[in-house]
Amino acid sequence: MKFHYLSLFLFVFILELSTNIYGVSSPKKSVKPLLPAEALLSISHYHSTCPDAEGVISQKVAAWVNKDPTLAPAIIRLHFHDCAVRGCDASVLLNHKGSERTAFESRTLRGFGMIDEIKTELEKRCPRTVSCADILTAAARDATILAGGPFWEVPFGRKDGKISLTKEANLVPQGHENITGLLAFFQERGLDMLDLVTLSGSHTIGRSTCYSIMNRIYNFNGTGKPDPSLSVYYLKLLRKRCKKDLDLVHLDVITPRTFDTTYYKNLVRKVGLLSTDQLLFSDARTGPFVEAFATQPFLFDSQFSVSMVKLGNVQVLTRPNEGEIRVNCNYVNHV
Ligand code: HEM
Ligand SMILES: *[C@@H]1O[C@H](CO)[C@@H](O)[C@H](O)[C@H]1NC(C)=O
Ligand SMILES: *[C@@H]1O[C@H](CO)[C@@H](O)[C@H](O)[C@H]1NC(C)=O
Repeated sequence: MKFHYLSLFLFVFILELSTNIYGVSSPKKSVKPLLPAEALLSISHYHSTCPDAEGVISQKVAAWVNKDPTLAPAIIRLHFHDCAVRGCDASVLLNHKGSERTAFESRTLRGFGMIDEIKTELEKRCPRTVSCADILTAAARDATILAGGPFWEVPFGRKDGKISLTKEANLVPQGHENITGLLAFFQERGLDMLDLVTLSGSHTIGRSTCYSIMNRIYNFNGTGKPDPSLSVYYLKLLRKRCKKDLDLVHLDVITPRTFDTTYYKNLVRKVGLLSTDQLLFSDARTGPFVEAFATQPFLFDSQFSVSMVKLGNVQVLTRPNEGEIRVNCNYVNHV
């Protein structure tokens, strides 16, 4: 199976190279052809420099998640927040004054301790070799599997960024956006409508603070009434669970710990937690995808693998002059 993926990848890669270098696809271009940054990622990136990297990561993720299953969704979300701001460059992990991580919007992010422990172990085995951005990407894949989701090959070779700004943390969608806004956000990162609906399927596990839905259950956009797109039964339940902003509610009310397609079935039944979840079903552009996933788990699993690879490719730093391999994921290297 591994060989099969690798040879397919190599084939596509070589095809890419030849079309770009020899300009087969665009013979009129005379400027020097440049591969897109994500084309420099590869499944075999650490095969000679740190052959145990993936094994160490998956072992550590399993140990942490077995102790605390809520870390599986936490680490998947951390990867999303990383890629959403300045691309997948581990900017979300930087822990200095004024970094993304210190922002109000980042206050419920978790899983930093797990990444730190993995990094410490990898620095022992292969110093200054495996980037924090790659660790986070692979950990999100491993967390998905542990929750019952699909496997996919992770291409490696991201480097870590040196910039992280508090004010950019609010670029990540908060759950009050409309579909047009979400589509624009995804498009700016090379992700499309199908990726939006598919990756939102991560909300099949994990929790939200009530803060994110208070307006939906008590005072929807200033009307003094709840969101009419909430089922009566679900509204009652949420009002019972949500007394304070920091109370927690499951994103998938039916199977909160299982990575499955119940999330999409919930949307069809008007029991989606976030307003942005529910809108995926009611919006005419995205609704058909929701209905397809609600009834075809195999389709969701295979598309989720594809869309997660795309998420992991967002604005990656891969060229020699870009980024660095951080020694400690919390801090930029000293000069
Ligand atoms: C499409 C736009 C998205 C919006 C508006 C959104 C919004 C949110 C919000 C508001 C929460 C709860 C935060 C809190 O109150 O503590 C949350 C949790 C979560 N999100 Fe998203 N999200 C989006 C996309 C994604 C994507 C693309 C992924 C992963 C690929 C993801 C994975 C998660 C996970 C796993 C959780 C649960 C975290 C935990 O249990 O600790 N989300 N999201
Ligand atoms: C949707 O959100 C965008 C901002 O992201 C805003 O400009 C637009 O007016 C909103 N559209 C509707 C119909 O509310
Ligand atoms: C407020 O909610 C209603 C639905 O109850 C909707 O028709 C209206 O467009 C919303 N207003 C804004 C500004 O989003």
